[in-house]
Amino acid sequence: MVQIIQCEDGTQTVFSPQFQETYHSIKGAIQESSHVFLNAGLNHLLDQGYSTIRILEFGFGTGLNALLVLNLVKDLQNISIEYVGIEKYPLEKTEISRLSYHDEVNVHISDWLKLHEGNWCIGNFKGKVFHSDFNDFESDTKFDLVFHDAFSPNIQQEYWRSPFLEKVYEKMNRGGVLVTYCAQGEFRRELKRIGFTIESLPGPLGKREMTRATKL
Ligand SMILES: C[S@@+](CC[C@H](N)C(=O)[O-])C[C@H]1O[C@@H](n2cnc3c(N)ncnc32)[C@H](O)[C@@H]1O
Repeated sequence: MVQIIQCEDGTQTVFSPQFQETYHSIKGAIQESSHVFLNAGLNHLLDQGYSTIRILEFGFGTGLNALLVLNLVKDLQNISIEYVGIEKYPLEKTEISRLSYHDEVNVHISDWLKLHEGNWCIGNFKGKVFHSDFNDFESDTKFDLVFHDAFSPNIQQEYWRSPFLEKVYEKMNRGGVLVTYCAQGEFRRELKRIGFTIESLPGPLGKREMTRATKL
């Protein structure tokens, strides 16, 4: 069982006793997710004129990132999103029912619950969640946007290094971007070695930097 706790700005996050880490920054969950995954990721591709975007998320967790995507694109009728989330330790229904993210971003509860059914089609936003290990995810589809949201390198180093990152690179289209809250030096050097172009962007509240990596 996980614990649901409050961030400093009053939004909720989850603490995992198993991994001894929170799912989001304790400074503010929605602020962090919006900053890293929406603004530096999805909005960045929309600004370049993408109209169909395939997103792959490592660590679906609470579904907050998918919810924020839904909230952004629900009124953009010319945009189409396909979303794949990977999650090995799905939250229990009772835990999901205690999260109120949908109220905070003004998405109807029925759409929020659809995201947690694991296979949805809500207007222009389609998605699936695979309850598997990150390492076991195989797909012939290539992705334009990767939300890398594993636990930090201190806890899950293998997902911030090769061979895992090389597999992620192979799953991406040219021009695609990977965004993450992590700004660790060794992680960035590994991304560069693989062939990504790295941008160091200002981080969300409480973090100096975040990373955006582009597969040119
Ligand atoms: C930092 S949390 C991010 C959660 C999520 N993006 C959110 O906004 O709630 C990391 C997530 O990765 C999941 N996870 C950790 N190791 C995993 C693995 N090896 N395979 C699949 N999922 C994993 C955890 O259960 C957790 O939900």
